[in-house]
Amino acid sequence: MAAVGVELAGIRLRNPFLLASGIWGESGESLKGAYAAGAGGVVTKSIGEAPRDGYPNPTIDTYEQWGMLNAMGLPNPGIEEYPREVAVAVAAGVPTIGSVFAGDADAFAAVARRMASTGVLALELNLSCPHAKGLGSEVGSDPAEVERVVRAVVRAVTVPVIAKITPNTADPVALGLAAERGGAAAVSAINTLRALAIDLNLRRPVLAHGLGGLSGAAIKPVGLAVVWQLYEALKIPVVGIGGIRTVDDAIEYALAGARAVEVGTAVAFDGIGVFGRLAAELPPRLDALGFPSWGAAVGAAHPAPGAAVRTT
Ligand SMILES: Cc1cc2nc3c(=O)[nH]c(=O)nc-3n(C[C@H](O)[C@H](O)[C@H](O)COP(=O)(O)O)c2cc1C
Repeated sequence: MAAVGVELAGIRLRNPFLLASGIWGESGESLKGAYAAGAGGVVTKSIGEAPRDGYPNPTIDTYEQWGMLNAMGLPNPGIEEYPREVAVAVAAGVPTIGSVFAGDADAFAAVARRMASTGVLALELNLSCPHAKGLGSEVGSDPAEVERVVRAVVRAVTVPVIAKITPNTADPVALGLAAERGGAAAVSAINTLRALAIDLNLRRPVLAHGLGGLSGAAIKPVGLAVVWQLYEALKIPVVGIGGIRTVDDAIEYALAGARAVEVGTAVAFDGIGVFGRLAAELPPRLDALGFPSWGAAVGAAHPAPGAAVRTT
């Protein structure tokens, strides 16, 4: 059977499937549950300096065929409260990556320092939430700011730092290169795409906040493209995110260049058992495709160096 263990930024994972931030990681018990269900590791909800209520309802709209629109507004208990939850997962031996957000480099470093002290194996920096004023992609759309934030966090902590890149930009590669220059150990992509749903009868946006972020099947081709571009341009590993629901989706991300993948909206649709299914189906599917391991598939769709590139 094909080997599916993964090494990511010095972290060993039993399989490449990570729980994506914000979908299920609200409590230590839910993080533990994702790992017990079969995930290779988990990313926590994004946590900021102070507690935030997020936006009023409705904050989520679902479309079974193509995904989900959300504008949660980064609700979270704040970095003083959350470590208690992380400790539950860490004590249970769950490979845990702490997700942090903030408005500038100093604030990122302060939250990151506190998160790193909880025993998480790595930090993921949310530089990419598309609907939070002064946060997320408003910080993460400027390469100079991305480099500043990543450098400040890398100086503040000893665990590896993963920069989560926004797709809501003309040039994701510039953001990835900025993260690499800042000292990131890996990049992850993508967060949700800025999107809008309109209620025809009410003649208003469906979500209370108006604009939201699109996730799920509809964004998979966008995620694949960003991962492809980042893999070509960067030396550090890429974590693929966006619309992964089946092992074939995940293997497509590997072929595009993803060392590991995160799964979000599929958990909302299929339940946390999705991780057990993905973990069980991956080795035989890699066998059937002729890959001796997950690692052998990573980047395999890219032309070999020096090979002729098809242009039509
Ligand atoms: C309801 C919801 C909440 C989310 N919250 C966060 C968050 O707190 N931090 C973050 O970095 N990404 C957050 N995301 C983005 C996901 O982690 C992921 O990048 C995105 O949904 C694409 O993956 P998917 O298509 O598998 O869902 C959230 C997504 C959804 C749907």
